[in-house]
Amino acid sequence: MARLESLIGLVNRIQRACTALGDHGGEGMSLWEALPSVAVVGGQSSGKSSVLESVVGRDFLPRGSGIVTRRPLVLQLHRIEEGRSEYAEFLHAPKKKFTDFASVRKEISDETDRITGKTKHISNIPIHLSIYSPNVVNLTLIDLPGLTKVAVEGQPDSIVEDIENMVRSYVEKPNCIILAISPANQDIATSDAIKLAREVDPSGERTFGVMTKLDLMDKGTNALDVIEGRSYRLQHPWVGIVNRSQADINKNVDMMAARRKEQEYFETSPDYGHLAHRMGSEYLAKLLSKHLETVIRQRIPSILALINKTIDELNAELDRIGRPVGVDSGAQLYTILELCRAFDRVFKEHLD
Ligand code: GDP
Ligand code: NA
Ligand code: MG
Repeated sequence: MARLESLIGLVNRIQRACTALGDHGGEGMSLWEALPSVAVVGGQSSGKSSVLESVVGRDFLPRGSGIVTRRPLVLQLHRIEEGRSEYAEFLHAPKKKFTDFASVRKEISDETDRITGKTKHISNIPIHLSIYSPNVVNLTLIDLPGLTKVAVEGQPDSIVEDIENMVRSYVEKPNCIILAISPANQDIATSDAIKLAREVDPSGERTFGVMTKLDLMDKGTNALDVIEGRSYRLQHPWVGIVNRSQADINKNVDMMAARRKEQEYFETSPDYGHLAHRMGSEYLAKLLSKHLETVIRQRIPSILALINKTIDELNAELDRIGRPVGVDSGAQLYTILELCRAFDRVFKEHLD
């Protein structure tokens, strides 16, 4: 288990190094594309950003009604030793350590506006954020703008299609695990998340159904048909979630209090009490981490082959630019090469 944790940690570091070098998965199969990540998909204000925050266990994402998330946010969680203090770092400001998560949220907003202005427009250019904390599991998560049905005032008519295409470009990749977010106060038959997930992952093997807003359903109704897999069957079990309401956010209800409240909600619910042990944000985080480990295990042979190829290519590249290297890209290449070797080593140990 500890070793798999460190494997996922290495995956994160390789992804980050590749991104820094400009490997965004252009031609052929890049290393980035061979490694798994998790993306949230769903309609606007279905609770995507809230779910990601709870999985992380930290308040740092801009949330609210309307179109808040306007650029993809690629979020890498790195688990660090117990007792060390947590911090965040942006790829666009690599020397700055953020220890206050309110300022992380502000930086995401500011960086979004830097590209799109203070508009309701979207941009395909992702923001890369890393969080180092003893309280997270090693995961790469991607927050995306919500799917919409109509353009609002100030948006081009193409926005509905633009958002769908952007979201699809992430979730169609075979290595992308999809968190399909559907709010319980809307009919599952109209769920944009399920519609898109079904399109890109017909067998449902990489889709996790997440039902938010269970607390907002009409009195006398419940979501058992969905959560117990009768309405829309997925290979993985549905997870029900109660995020913070807008009133909670306005009152600054903190994450831990919210989690306790969520757990209490399930434990005391006449409808969901019998499912309490497999509902809620904490359970979802564990489920995801476990699934990721399984996926990496299955991919070991193909990742190893790719890494060997990458090592050869990196060596050739280093020969070409000449060693020793002083320039930034040379140093970056070295980093990736070192990471690949470490990765290779840990994998081999793991297989023994
Ligand atoms: P996104 O647009 O899909 O990223 O959704 P957000 O996470 O920004 O949430 C949109 C709004 O719905 C916010 O005001 C949240 O407080 C609220 N919200 C999200 N999930 C829940 C939930 O489970 N219960 C309640 N009561 N409100 C929620
Ligand atoms: Na929103
Ligand atoms: Mg959002």
